[in-house]
Amino acid sequence: MKTVLITGANKGIGFETTKQLAQLGYYVYMGSRDKSRGIEAVEKLKMQGINHVDYIEIDVTNTNSIKSARQELGNKIKALDILINNAGIAGEQPQNASSGKIDNLRKVFDTNFFGAVQATQQFIDLLKKSNEPRIVNVSSELGSLAVHSNTQNPNYAIYDAYSCSKAALNAFTVMLANEFKDTNFKINSVTPGYTATDLNQNKGTQSVEQGVKAIIKYATVDNDGPTGRYFKEAGEIDW
Ligand SMILES: NC(=O)c1ccc[n+]([C@@H]2O[C@H](COP(=O)([O-])OP(=O)(O)OC[C@H]3O[C@@H](n4cnc5c(N)ncnc54)[C@H](OP(=O)(O)O)[C@@H]3O)[C@@H](O)[C@H]2O)c1
Repeated sequence: MKTVLITGANKGIGFETTKQLAQLGYYVYMGSRDKSRGIEAVEKLKMQGINHVDYIEIDVTNTNSIKSARQELGNKIKALDILINNAGIAGEQPQNASSGKIDNLRKVFDTNFFGAVQATQQFIDLLKKSNEPRIVNVSSELGSLAVHSNTQNPNYAIYDAYSCSKAALNAFTVMLANEFKDTNFKINSVTPGYTATDLNQNKGTQSVEQGVKAIIKYATVDNDGPTGRYFKEAGEIDW
């Protein structure tokens, strides 16, 4: 059975992604930074008859936590097939380039960028043991510089801290994919679209079921699929 690790899987998009991948026949390790929230999430899925799920404690802003999670997972599985760097925060508002609080910017980058980089670096050896390793970096359309340089776009130049962190994550996707371009790795940035979750006080205009479609697609993409690209459900988007 193929294995998956999803960071920030105890709720929202990560939780729904877990559910759908488990229903497709994958065994999913649900990352949660809080033990009780993780256990509760696993129980919730088991109550729905979804059994191929387990919980793993991982706070992506804490090096020791990531290393412990790597050790724990290494004791359970020989290879990791899919890593989904999903854990993310919106940060405090307001966010603007000239006066946004540096502490807030650092906090957002810590989770959305450094967290994904460090989790990837720790789990890359387990992924290399898979025949078809996949990494999905859960980005946002707000990570697109094409969006932020188009004055006609409704998302033009908003949420600076969050947007910069996702643009940096996109850059990481490109660098990593290039490093592994001659292998079976498929590494892509994917945006779920504006989805109703706690991240936006459930103001998102689409359901989590809708939001995870592109994530599932690129997490399970086959060997002739793309790598080092940026997608939403409707197709490829400009960096
Ligand atoms: N919702 C949208 O419209 C939308 C749009 C574009 C992109 N995204 C991206 O989608 C991803 C998932 O967001 P969501 O909408 O599902 O938000 P959410 O419901 O707030 O879920 C975020 C998840 O990340 C976890 N998390 C936060 N900080 C963490 C850390 N330091 N270590 C480990 N886990 C951490 C949270 O855990 P706790 O429960 O412990 O806080 C939670 O499980 C994020 O990367 C977000 O940027 C969302």
